[in-house]
Amino acid sequence: MKRQQIAAGNWKMNKNYTEGRQLAKAIADGMDESENLAILGVPATHIKAVSGIVKKVANLEVAAQNCHQAESGAYTGEISVSMIKSVGAKYVILGHSERREYFNEGHELLAAKVNTVLGKRLIPIFCCGEPLAIREAGTHVAHVKKQLEDSLFHLKKNAFSKIIIAYEPIWAIGTGVTASPQQAQDMHKAIRALLADKYGATVADGTSILYGGSVKPANAKEIFGQPDVDGGLVGGASLKAADFLQIIHSF
Ligand code: 13P
Repeated sequence: MKRQQIAAGNWKMNKNYTEGRQLAKAIADGMDESENLAILGVPATHIKAVSGIVKKVANLEVAAQNCHQAESGAYTGEISVSMIKSVGAKYVILGHSERREYFNEGHELLAAKVNTVLGKRLIPIFCCGEPLAIREAGTHVAHVKKQLEDSLFHLKKNAFSKIIIAYEPIWAIGTGVTASPQQAQDMHKAIRALLADKYGATVADGTSILYGGSVKPANAKEIFGQPDVDGGLVGGASLKAADFLQIIHSF
């Protein structure tokens, strides 16, 4: 099975509503129907409008950047998966290192969020990745293995096969330092081997594993060209239509 190649953008907390609509429109206008899937991870306030804009492009979709684990209830300020789904997003980014670090999201909470997203038939884009100290200590594979075991490996094979994984080494996020194509390939290959051990080769071969961390138009082609890298989760460079389009065109 050929796995899906994906260029996903994570806008984080950037762009007001007007700017967000303009950016989404410019990306939609620049996309060619024959291209791989592209996903825009937009602020919750923008999902409905951006969903409307991307609807005319078959291979462009919208992701939320977070959700609450409960289906509904007294959680002031939070957003449920049903709400996200009702405004047109098909994907939810979960476990981003910024959420883990600044909002104390731990593995149990993330496992609950994964279950809720899958329960509503949306697709988690599950982020994992190590900080610099772990990379320097050489224990990065074990670190990522634990992240996967703790928040994903409770899933049955069928449920797991829906998941998209994003490997994002924290030391490469927003720093301008990119993992080398070889470092990305080595980690993606290690992740795929972990998936094969747990779920078998068919599931492992079918799972898209995206690389995130300072992906730019200048380096996307080489990174995406690695055999186990199935695309990218892009922060800063997804905020400029021309840059993100060039990344989309890099496969
Ligand atoms: P940058 O592309 O800005 O390094 O961000 C990566 C990221 O965090 C995507 O989720």
